[in-house]
Amino acid sequence: MVKLRYAHIKSITEEDLAALKAPLEAADGKIRNKNGEGAEYTGWIDLPVNYDRDEFNRIKAAAELIRSNSDVLLVVGIGGSYLGARAVIEFLYSAYYNQIKKDAPEIYFIGNSFSGDELTQVLSLCEGKRISVNVVSKSGTTTESAVAFRLVRSYLEKRYTGEELKRRIFATTDKRAGALKELADKEGYECFVIPDDIGGRFSVLTAVGLLPIAASGADIDALMAGAAACREHLFAEGLGNAAYTYALLRNAFLQKGRTVEVLASYEPSFRYMGEWFKQLFGESEGKDKKGIFPSSVIFSSDLHSLGQFIQDGNPILFETVCRQVSASEEIAVPFDEQDTDNLNYLEGVSLNAINNKALLGTLLAHADGGTDSIIVEYEGKNEFSLGELIYFMFISCAASGYILGVNPFDQPGVEAYKKNMFALLGKPGSEKKRAELENRLNLLMLK
Ligand code: PA5
Repeated sequence: MVKLRYAHIKSITEEDLAALKAPLEAADGKIRNKNGEGAEYTGWIDLPVNYDRDEFNRIKAAAELIRSNSDVLLVVGIGGSYLGARAVIEFLYSAYYNQIKKDAPEIYFIGNSFSGDELTQVLSLCEGKRISVNVVSKSGTTTESAVAFRLVRSYLEKRYTGEELKRRIFATTDKRAGALKELADKEGYECFVIPDDIGGRFSVLTAVGLLPIAASGADIDALMAGAAACREHLFAEGLGNAAYTYALLRNAFLQKGRTVEVLASYEPSFRYMGEWFKQLFGESEGKDKKGIFPSSVIFSSDLHSLGQFIQDGNPILFETVCRQVSASEEIAVPFDEQDTDNLNYLEGVSLNAINNKALLGTLLAHADGGTDSIIVEYEGKNEFSLGELIYFMFISCAASGYILGVNPFDQPGVEAYKKNMFALLGKPGSEKKRAELENRLNLLMLK
């Protein structure tokens, strides 16, 4: 079970927390009854116990097919349409998944930028290998992934034709509408559904995440079981549950001027979980000129870069440490006859034990520097434990957003850059906006 520990909290008083009790009760009601702001996007709440079993079995079958006939799986998607899958796969197998997993396809995530260099490099990695593609887009119109998919399709058409081409492309998209759904139906690609009531950043436990995750060989039954267990536990515990308490503390920190949350992990394989977390909380809370800016670090690496600021800089931060209780691998420091590096005092001590001391020492140092810390503890690097952690973060995020007074399930702010980009690219219908933007750019002497 995911647990919350209070490592050091000095900037918040009992009164601060008591003042947030009523907003928390209201948030709990909105989550349980699914009747708050954005209620139409709360399908993720019951998903771990209420998912479409037929679709789930189709996902497993497609994953098996990909594993049997492909050396490479290209996952085309951006934001909520790729971060969860990448986070889970790297959490379980590390960033070296592609080198480590010999019995599964290499997996590359594309369509999450407009970088021509990146796409070219990934396609060069596909040369001479058998490829499958999973294109993921709820709207079906997201430009980054649509452009990449067009390029990948044209690459694939040079390699495969007819039925063979068709059975190598899987589309995860809206049940009924959108450009991708239309294309998939026309071309006869197998389709998986992103439910109407689940937004991108809450979609990792739908086909969006599950197909690539299953293709990596991970146990998606255990992932769902972990989420279901967490759901049952949190709702049974009620207002005092750990996810709500985390939400409460975040809001209390914010009210004290701690506007930046540093999500820290001591496991490098947690890096993309940090990226996933940033999208989850950033898009859910950062609106109406409110919110905590979510950031993420990997310690001890980043203690050698951002550590100085966290210890000693502008006191705008609080730290949430994701701590793994049990390690998967053990490796110990060997004895050295010469001991030139003076490390023999560590002989036989495992790196995990050293990592833990680094965590404890850092907590105390940051406390001395005035940075408060919360610890979120998860069991280990396995699917069940990760399912629990994902669900824990979902509930915390929804509660935290409601306490803050925003709709945690919309993202009105992500449209602004798209409108400008389309106009600058000369999309038909945007001529007036294009002229206006080009004028502004001329004044800035930018082309
Ligand atoms: O959380 C979100 O809604 C976004 O990050 C989307 O997932 C992202 O913009 C991709 O959208 P789509 O799946 O429609 O291509």
